[in-house]
Amino acid sequence: DCPSSVRKQLGKLFAEALKQTVPTELEIVPLIDACIPKDGVKHADYQCNNAMSLFAKIKGKQEEFKNPRSLGEGIMKNLPPSEMIESCSVAGPGFVNIVLSNKWIAQRVQKMLTDGIDSWAPRLPIKRVLVDFSSPNIAKEMHVGHLRSTIIGDTLARMLEFCQPECLIRRNHLGDWGTQFGMLIAHHFEKFPNSDNVNESNIGDLQAFYKESKLKFDSDPDFKLNAQQSVVKLQGGDPKYRKAWEQICNISRTEFNKVYQRLGIHLEEMPESFYNELIPPTLEKLDKLGLIEDSDGARVIFVDGVDIPLIAVKKDGGYNYFSTDLASLWYRLNIEKLDWNIYVTDVGQWQHFDMLFKAFRRAGWLPKDENEYPICTHIGFGLVLGKDGKRLRSSLGETVRLVDLLDKAKEKSKIALLKRGNTKEWSEEEIEKASEAIGYGAVKYADLKNNRTTNYTINFEQMLNDKGNTAVYLIYAHARICSIIRKSGKDIEELKKTGTVVLDHEDERTLALHLLQFTEVFVESCSNLLPHTLCEYLYNLAEIFTKKFYSNCQVVGSPEETSRLLLCEATLVVMRHCFYLLGIVPVDKL
Ligand code: ARG
Repeated sequence: DCPSSVRKQLGKLFAEALKQTVPTELEIVPLIDACIPKDGVKHADYQCNNAMSLFAKIKGKQEEFKNPRSLGEGIMKNLPPSEMIESCSVAGPGFVNIVLSNKWIAQRVQKMLTDGIDSWAPRLPIKRVLVDFSSPNIAKEMHVGHLRSTIIGDTLARMLEFCQPECLIRRNHLGDWGTQFGMLIAHHFEKFPNSDNVNESNIGDLQAFYKESKLKFDSDPDFKLNAQQSVVKLQGGDPKYRKAWEQICNISRTEFNKVYQRLGIHLEEMPESFYNELIPPTLEKLDKLGLIEDSDGARVIFVDGVDIPLIAVKKDGGYNYFSTDLASLWYRLNIEKLDWNIYVTDVGQWQHFDMLFKAFRRAGWLPKDENEYPICTHIGFGLVLGKDGKRLRSSLGETVRLVDLLDKAKEKSKIALLKRGNTKEWSEEEIEKASEAIGYGAVKYADLKNNRTTNYTINFEQMLNDKGNTAVYLIYAHARICSIIRKSGKDIEELKKTGTVVLDHEDERTLALHLLQFTEVFVESCSNLLPHTLCEYLYNLAEIFTKKFYSNCQVVGSPEETSRLLLCEATLVVMRHCFYLLGIVPVDKL
């Protein structure tokens, strides 16, 4: 049930009407669409389009209906009276058109202003949900792929949180275990033979240090052997190696946290190493169920429809990415008792998760029906491309570091901000804050506005443009509305109590209706885990406000001032909430 979704409410009315018109045992699902307003054409707000398909089913059974259109008329007549609806008509082959009542729209917007945006939160049946996102690998770089996972994952978590689940976990499945550590530790001990401690001043830039050791690993067989022996020592629990590992992890962690802090992202870390001890018992359970087979010395699991098996234990007896994910999913289902597990990674890992989930289905640890709880979902995203249309690389041909990307966005937005010249009276701190909000917001929005499954091209000029579908444009629109309210000199809290929203002008109505459609767009965006739908909504809201409402309806000093200021405020509330969901910080003045 979703009382704040217009579509859902109309759906209920039409479900009644359909039952009256076509008596049947089976429930007919009402097909309700929002209509896109066309300039100049008197159009409906919503449309019910059941009549056409339904007529084919009742043909010959209900003589009173000669064609789909007459069935549409029948449905319309049976529609229960409702204060929502101003008028109905049947159009074309049998569409039932609905025009909503102005008064009703106005009241709903007004009520949201009093009760807050949370009163528009949908009720989705989500109990315990986990979003596994960001999850970079220690010492290896946190590259733009992790940026996408971080941005998309955070937004999905915010969206799910708005639906008020019983429990929501933002999980950082940090890659803190693996053969790279042998290499790093061996390199450190060779380079600094007198130091038992791994410390930051020795290592300097951990990524550079990683590259150094990798180079040595690939070219020097003695070092390679040393590195491999170091892994054995580390995994065997040798205290010296354990300590070195911990120290390396901490250096990396500090770096990651700086990025999270800048992006305003909070994650709960549960690193891969946490599951080490859980791997053997998990594999044993799978073995008892007869799932594990020997293949060339490796221990593998075959799953439906995939030729290659999942490797649970490598030939050398070592564990891998799969081993950890088998144990971690077992833990999430049985100890954390999650009923929805969402993994956010690049689409390239599609098969990894497909096989993981299939192995669990084979074991009977996940229901055969994918739509039955507990549910596991892999959310894949495309690549980040550079201007040349190839995978993003720095001028040196290396992967672009996240921090550099964020620095560049901030720097560029600061230059643009100072150029505008409105900032003369601003403090240094205000300028910094605004440049960060705009710069980081631009990076996030440029990512989120695309369907996540597609590749997208990073283009600073485009994403920092103050015109077009960018965060900068949206943040400016927000600041402009704030300034309208400020200029009026009115106390909005007071107006909320005493004023009334009235929708006499066509553009006031268009704005209010779009505001009211927030919930149904949100529900669609959240159900499909596709944030770009929400971006589209936000952009349209800014466009409707600026190009229609604000161009044609004078606010300050007009006889309709009170109602129009309330509409401005309602727009701000919905905009801010969209910004919040997208992890973008708006500013009040620019
Ligand atoms: N560390 C992995 C990577 O960088 C992502 C981990 C995703 N989560 C998981 N449970 N496998 O690609």
